[in-house]
Amino acid sequence: MTRTPERTAAELLTDFGAAPPRAPRPVAAPETKERINRARAPRRGHARPGQGWCPVEAPLTVYQAATHEIGGLFPLLAANGIPAVGARVGYDTLSGGAFYAHPIEWVLRGLATNPNMVVFGEPGRGKSSTVVAFLLRMMLFGVRTLVSGDVKGEYSPLLRSLDINPIALGRGSSARLNALDLGPLATRWDSWSVAQQRDELDGVLGRWVKLLVALAEAQGYSPTVTDEAVLSQVLRRLVGATDGYTRLRPVTIPDVQRELADPDPQLWEEARFADRRQFLDTLRPITDALANLVSGPLAGLFDEPTNFALDWNAPIQSMDLSLLRSRGDQAVAVALTCLGSWSSMITDLQDDGEIRIVVRDEVWRQMRLGPKAVQAVDSDLRLSRAEKKVQVLVGHKPSDFLSVGSAGSQEVAIAKDLLALCSTRILFGQSTRVADELAEDFALADKESDATTGWCMERTGRALWKIENQPGYKVQTVLSPTERRLFDTNAQLRTGR
Ligand SMILES: Nc1ncnc2c1ncn2[C@@H]1O[C@H](COP(=O)(O)OP(=O)(O)O)[C@@H](O)[C@H]1O
Ligand SMILES: [Mg+2]
Repeated sequence: MTRTPERTAAELLTDFGAAPPRAPRPVAAPETKERINRARAPRRGHARPGQGWCPVEAPLTVYQAATHEIGGLFPLLAANGIPAVGARVGYDTLSGGAFYAHPIEWVLRGLATNPNMVVFGEPGRGKSSTVVAFLLRMMLFGVRTLVSGDVKGEYSPLLRSLDINPIALGRGSSARLNALDLGPLATRWDSWSVAQQRDELDGVLGRWVKLLVALAEAQGYSPTVTDEAVLSQVLRRLVGATDGYTRLRPVTIPDVQRELADPDPQLWEEARFADRRQFLDTLRPITDALANLVSGPLAGLFDEPTNFALDWNAPIQSMDLSLLRSRGDQAVAVALTCLGSWSSMITDLQDDGEIRIVVRDEVWRQMRLGPKAVQAVDSDLRLSRAEKKVQVLVGHKPSDFLSVGSAGSQEVAIAKDLLALCSTRILFGQSTRVADELAEDFALADKESDATTGWCMERTGRALWKIENQPGYKVQTVLSPTERRLFDTNAQLRTGR
């Protein structure tokens, strides 16, 4: 038997139909004794048409082969389309390149329509850590953060390491926050024109009514349109808007409750009630709901004048609610609602032109209060006129938002809108059941949906970053050892082991 002579790779390729690759063009040896690794161009290339950054000498050496021969090699992997600006969060596992997040840039470059982000994932998958990595790295660009309600006190070690004292609310702390705080409105008032005064006040009153309605609902009463109209009127009177817009008076929830329980004759006349008795009877439920709030587990916390000032120059501020936990889930949810409303008002009015990140971690707790709480978040997001604000909502799954009403109801429509108000969706590992829900709400492709239940579950910090309708990016968040130490939410489990 004669043995067929061994074929060379070139002959093999020819036998299978493709032209053999051309030999690479020999690179001429440098004639002079120059440093061989000297940059041929500035880092970003020459700023001239047809020029740019090029890692190898152009024109490129061309090889030719059919895809079935080079199936195992794909050297022309492009980096993801996300610009390299902002926080370097980790790496994109598909291209191996760094992944940057800068929601405001994304809006400016047309990748997203709004800068808000929503983060979903099972507990312990690394949601909060990724948010921390994002905000710490945005700090390098002078972007400041407000953590609006830190239920577990997770952000406090981080703040302390930056020499900032978190504002703790709850038992043993002297900090008080008036849920109906005027914030910077009071000090700025005189510098505004009448038109602007009316405008700003309308915004704030609208927010307050939404807040009070949500809080009443948390007490088990669904406010009516009449309740809302009267609340708006009462707030207007109390704040002094009815008497000529001269100076604003501070308002607290007990003030509102008192006015409802003992109305001024002018109030019930203006609200078109036949008499005082009718006013009291109609508004009894909302009056009592507010009374319960003032005397309940949160007594004193949100119904007294605010006694701390936010340092707007601090890179990060946080309201630590961990002292509240012993007062129950309901108390925490009410506190989150008050804080959310307050913080979006003050960040809105803080028009220093700086980008700000507002983090609402564990937002699902607030959503459980009922449809009005979802509406309150929705209006906070909508009322923020300054686009230079990145709202970050952190939750477990979309149904936390959607469980507020029956399918097809107005509440569910609002909750869906809320998701639409967040262009960037960061999806961490989920169980299969939730994945179907995600796939539907965010129009995920099968591959993307599989990534959330499979790939994301394999390691902490893995997430599918879905920016509007672009294909999702599989990103691994990388924490530095310092960040891991400062933000070790499992530390409690480790101590005493
Ligand atoms: N990218 C990451 N690399 C390494 N460890 C991580 C990463 N992300 C999170 N962790 C760790 O996992 C634990 C849970 O993270 P956490 O952000 O609190 O999860 P979640 O907010 O989803 O409940 C923390 O102890 C944290 O240090
Ligand atoms: Mg968390």
